[in-house]
Amino acid sequence: MADKVHPKVVPLVDQRSAALAPPFRAFDPAYRVAPAGTIADSLHRPLRDLRISVTDRCNFRCSYCMPKEVFHKDYPYLPHADLLNFEEITRIARQFVAHGVQKIRLTGGEPLLRKNIEVLIEQLAGLRTVQGQPLDLTLTTNGSLLARKAHTLKAAGLQRVTVSLDGLDDAVFRRMNDVDFPVHEVLQGIEAAKQAGLGPIKVNMVVKRGTNDHELIPMARHFKGSGVVLRFIEYMDVGATNGWRLNEVLPSREVIARLQQELPLIPLEASMPGETAQRWGYADADGRHDAHAGEIGVISSVTQAFCGDCNRARLSTEGQLYLCLFASQGYDLRSLVRGNGPADATDADLASAIGHIWQGRTDRYSELRSAQDPMADVSTGRRVEMSYIGG
Ligand code: GTP
Ligand code: 5AD
Ligand code: SF4
Ligand code: SF4
Repeated sequence: MADKVHPKVVPLVDQRSAALAPPFRAFDPAYRVAPAGTIADSLHRPLRDLRISVTDRCNFRCSYCMPKEVFHKDYPYLPHADLLNFEEITRIARQFVAHGVQKIRLTGGEPLLRKNIEVLIEQLAGLRTVQGQPLDLTLTTNGSLLARKAHTLKAAGLQRVTVSLDGLDDAVFRRMNDVDFPVHEVLQGIEAAKQAGLGPIKVNMVVKRGTNDHELIPMARHFKGSGVVLRFIEYMDVGATNGWRLNEVLPSREVIARLQQELPLIPLEASMPGETAQRWGYADADGRHDAHAGEIGVISSVTQAFCGDCNRARLSTEGQLYLCLFASQGYDLRSLVRGNGPADATDADLASAIGHIWQGRTDRYSELRSAQDPMADVSTGRRVEMSYIGG
C-alpha cells in the first residue's frame, strides 16, 4: 500500500549534507588576504546578527514548520555526532563576533531541547563585540519548557527570550502545535521569563488566514500594557514541506487595519537598522504613543521584503553557514573546526573563510520574489527546512 501523503505537503528531499566547501586560504591564493574586523557583503550589508540552530528537533509539529506527515516518528534527525558541540559553536561564534556580529540568537527546532544548553549560553555570554560590549544574547522558544528553565537560563547569561505563540484560544493553539499542547503552559513560561528578568520579551505569532487570524485582537488585547512586544508574522514559503499557499498569507497592512478598528495605533521609528519588524505603538486619546500600553510589530517577509539591509547569518545544526533563510546550500564550517577538511584550520583561517563568504554574499530572495509574481519561486534549488537552519 502506498504511503499516505498529506495532499498539500511536498515530500522532503534531504539537502542537509550537500554543503559547499568553504574557501580555505591555505590552498587558494585568492583567499590569502583575509578580511579583518567588521565586513560588508557585496550589497554593502554589514554582518551583525548570527542565528545558531542548536537542534533540528522540536516537541511541536506546527504545520507551517514541521508538518507531522514529514516529521513523523521515523524522521531521520541528525545523529548527535553530526551536531556541532558547544566548543565548536563558541569557536565559530567568536570569529563571527570579530567580524562585527552584535546579536546571537539560539534557535532550533526547539533550542531548550538541547541538553545542557545553559553551558553553551555561559560560553557565548563571555564573548565581547568589536566595541568591547556584551552580545545581545537571545533565544527563540516555543515556551513549553520555559517555566522550568527561565531562571537557569538567566543565571547562565541569557539576556532575553522570544516566545512563539500562535493564539490564545486553547483549541486553536492545540491544533496549530499539532501535539495537543495547552496554551496555559506557554503563558506560564512567558510569566516565568518575565519574573526571571529575561526581557524585553517578544511574542511571535505566525498569522495564517482562516486558521488563526481571528486571534489577532484577543492576542493584542492580552499583551497590551504587559511589557511584552507582540509581533505578527506573515506566513512564509520557507522550507520545502509546508505546502505554502499565498491565499493563506494575511498581509501586514491588513493586520494593522484590523487592529486599528479596535486598538488605535501609530507608526514608530525603527530602533535598529536591518530590523525585521515594523513597529507600531498604541495611541493615547491625543493620538500620541502611550508608552505604558506598549507596542506591537509586523514582520512582512512576503509583502514587503526587507532584504535591503539584511544583516543575518545562519549557522545550521551541523555547522553549515547559510547566507539566507531561503538558501538551498550552506558552507561547511564544521569541516574547518573538526580538522576533517582539507587541513587543520586555525582561528585565523576560520575568520578568513567567514569573511570571504560574507563578502561574496548576494542573497536577497524575498526581494527578488516580490519583484515577480508573488507565487513565483526564485530560489536556485530545493530549500532547507527552517527547523534545521534556524528561524
Ligand atoms: P529581535 O532582535 O528580537 O527583533 O529579533 P528578530 O525579529 O531579528 O528575530 P526573530 O527570530 O524574532 O524573527 C521573527 C520572525 O521573522 C522569524 O521567525 C521569521 O519568521 C522572520 N524572519 C527573521 N529573520 C528573517 C530573515 O532574515 N528573512 C526573512 N524573510 N524572515 C525573517
Ligand atoms: N512562516 C513564518 N514564520 C515561520 N516560522 C517558522 N516557520 C515559519 C513560516 N512558514 C518562525 C515563527 C516561529 C519561529 C520558530 O519560526 O516565527 O515562531
Ligand atoms: Fe517547533 Fe517552532 Fe517549528 Fe513550531 S515553529 S514546529 S515550535 S520549531
Ligand atoms: Fe535576508 Fe534572505 Fe530573509 Fe532577504 S530573504 S531578509 S536576504 S534572509
